[in-house]
Amino acid sequence: MSPKDTQAWTDLQSHAYYMSQSHISTLFQESPDRFSQFGFAQDDLLLDLSKQRITDETLSLLIKLAKERDLKGWTEDLFNGKHINDSEDRPALHTALRTPKGDKLEVDGVEIIEEVHQNLERMDAIVNKIHSGQWRGYTGHSINTVVNIGVGGSDLGPFMACKALSENQPAEARALKVHFVSSMDGSQLADLLSHLNPARTLFVISSKSFTTIDTLANANTAKEWLKASSNEASESVLVARHFIGVSASPDKALSWGIPESNQLAFWDWTGGRYSMWSTIGLPIALKLGAKGFREVLAGAHAMDCHFRDTPFEQNLPVLIAMIGIWNINFLNINAHAILPYDGRLSHIPAYLEQLEMESNGKSVTRDGKATDYSTCPILWGEVGTNAQHAFYQLLHQGTESVMCDFIVAARRYHDTDNAELQHQHQLNLANCLAQSRILALGDSVIEGAEDAPVYKRYKGNQPCTTILLDELTPYTFGQLIAMYEHKVFVQSVIWDINPFDQWGVELGKKVATTLLEALGPEAATSDFDSSTQGLLQHIAMRNQ
Ligand code: F6P
Repeated sequence: MSPKDTQAWTDLQSHAYYMSQSHISTLFQESPDRFSQFGFAQDDLLLDLSKQRITDETLSLLIKLAKERDLKGWTEDLFNGKHINDSEDRPALHTALRTPKGDKLEVDGVEIIEEVHQNLERMDAIVNKIHSGQWRGYTGHSINTVVNIGVGGSDLGPFMACKALSENQPAEARALKVHFVSSMDGSQLADLLSHLNPARTLFVISSKSFTTIDTLANANTAKEWLKASSNEASESVLVARHFIGVSASPDKALSWGIPESNQLAFWDWTGGRYSMWSTIGLPIALKLGAKGFREVLAGAHAMDCHFRDTPFEQNLPVLIAMIGIWNINFLNINAHAILPYDGRLSHIPAYLEQLEMESNGKSVTRDGKATDYSTCPILWGEVGTNAQHAFYQLLHQGTESVMCDFIVAARRYHDTDNAELQHQHQLNLANCLAQSRILALGDSVIEGAEDAPVYKRYKGNQPCTTILLDELTPYTFGQLIAMYEHKVFVQSVIWDINPFDQWGVELGKKVATTLLEALGPEAATSDFDSSTQGLLQHIAMRNQ
């Protein structure tokens, strides 16, 4: 059934007719204590929805919609391993990856939690071997640099986590440098290789499918670089000492040359963009140690329990998702800015771009009908204070309505006595609070604004959510990311789409293969459109 056929959707449409004419500043005047009405806390995380264009009635209608869409039933199916990724006929079990040891979950006749922990323990052993200097390169020297080669879900999550939690490194991990390489053109890798020591470098080839051309091209370049640096060691020795493969396709990793002993596995029921909790998280474990990685998993598991067990009215992922539904489907806002006020979270926009847009950037329902309502908005973002000097002009005075997520930690640098850094944190907090205030309320926040010329006015009414962490730790980071994962799932249930496949990325891979051939010297170009032909000819001319 289409979400539009529910009673709640119809009610929300009538409600939106009035609400779309209201201003957030008026809502605050009418109800000054909105924060206690629309602030929701869970553990070390606070969600402030008071700067959204909502009333109590909005929230209760949104919750009615979630119930009419059987969100509870879908959530149970997710956690219990039903094949809800129907186009690929498999479950989506990222929640199992952070389920504590000793719990049980049987999926398709297999007990999986035990396997999850066996894999984590194999990963711990590798981490300990590297940290303790016992993993030796081909010259017998220990490893001091790890390069993760992967792309999309095999890159963005671990990359984001390593940056976010770099201040939480245990002593044993500090000597190890962890780098990330993803770009197909080789530029990141070439830059890195020019100053790495092959004898002390370990490559982690992360690819669920082990067929992704971007990753394999970088992996091949890395292998050739190693071979060129050593005449005496054979290729099999070099690969055994300097490559680890993390994949759900062990046979493909083996054909590429990575022996089973150097492989870490995960399962096809782990979606790529949901995989940082699996052995794809190896770089995170290398950065934080096995214990630190377990804290990330524990935070995510706490959010899983909260999502599964808490009434919708107090349920953070449900609330943040339904606010998105309200903005997108009823207030017609189709742009979403992710604004972390924390340099450590600089990679969260890129991560959420994949998580949200690859999951819900779809226009066909589960039973193959075209949607006649909007789904995933366009998402982008940047560290908030940097974005203030870049695209905030549009947020404040442009023509587009944009919903904004402000993400910030209340406490930072409290365990140092560096007064300058402490002051910087205060500055950062002040800017975060100032910007969400102006975006929501407009220039009504200062006196006399109405006398200013029109080009100096701020209209406000941009809906803002603030996600306030007590502090950024492995645990709160796990909570935060799991909250966004579940948000995406909730929205997919409302929109009746499968968030766990990504057929929209396949055609590009095929067409690129034909174009690769057309770039060759012999290629006939007449099969292409005139733009592509013209570009091919120009490229050929420039390469003569
Ligand atoms: O092409 C998109 C995609 O399949 C993503 O879904 C995935 O995260 C990424 O490529 C990398 O895939 P793999 O881990 O199989 O190399």
